[in-house]
Amino acid sequence: MTTAIVGVGNIGGALARDLVAGGEPVVLAAKDESHAEALADELGPLARAASVDDAIAGADVVVFAIWLDTIRELIAKDARLLEDKVVVDPSNPLGFDESGQMFRTLPEGQSAGSVVAALLPAGAHYVKAFGTLGADSLARCAYREPRRAVLFYATDDDAAATTIERLIRAAGFDPIKAGGAAAALRIEMPGGDLHQFGLNGAVLDLDEARAAIAKGVPA
Ligand SMILES: NC(=O)c1ccc[n+]([C@@H]2O[C@H](COP(=O)([O-])OP(=O)(O)OC[C@H]3O[C@@H](n4cnc5c(N)ncnc54)[C@H](OP(=O)(O)O)[C@@H]3O)[C@@H](O)[C@H]2O)c1
Repeated sequence: MTTAIVGVGNIGGALARDLVAGGEPVVLAAKDESHAEALADELGPLARAASVDDAIAGADVVVFAIWLDTIRELIAKDARLLEDKVVVDPSNPLGFDESGQMFRTLPEGQSAGSVVAALLPAGAHYVKAFGTLGADSLARCAYREPRRAVLFYATDDDAAATTIERLIRAAGFDPIKAGGAAAALRIEMPGGDLHQFGLNGAVLDLDEARAAIAKGVPA
């Protein structure tokens, strides 16, 4: 299975390192192809760089490790290439003003996941994942001992769930499903109770994650 990671910044870079450390081949793409090439060189034979279109066309799984507006642009341009692929979306509805203050870019109650999923072709397999920790924690907590850290995911799609569970394990984490695609709202920031930001910075293990999921579900 080939995983394309589009975007090699904070999240894409950390994820590429975790997956390669777990023996997973990755194809890297960025706006500036030299950034993808530099990371591929650093990561060795399991990583290679490609243009965005080539990376998507040749992959079974596409991780959009880019900002929400860029995901919108790329899906509009490359929708036909995404047919039948597992599309992994780590994005948050986040922007920053001139003073560096964070603000929400979507109305309360609307997830970035719902925006991305609605843009995909019918045959794509959507899953929200790999955005539930800050990039530094995604790098630092892989293969954590003695209690492995979890990564939450949200999807309505069984094929996407099977694939993301395998990739999350390969990246050195325990996978846990927060719920269907609607649960993207719970694992995004700002506002998500299961996002690291909503958990006051905590990185949970499996037992803690199960309890946190149950706590947020209305009785
Ligand atoms: N940072 C975090 O801790 C964190 C945590 C959870 C989720 N996220 C989410 O992850 C996403 C990425 O965040 P980040 O902090 O990793 O961003 P980032 O460090 O700014 O990296 C963005 C990457 O996107 C690439 N890019 C921009 N436009 C592109 C295009 N048209 N085609 C292909 N690649 C393009 C950039 O390419 P170049 O390298 O060529 O500039 C860069 O590699 C966001 O949606 C964010 O909400 C981030």
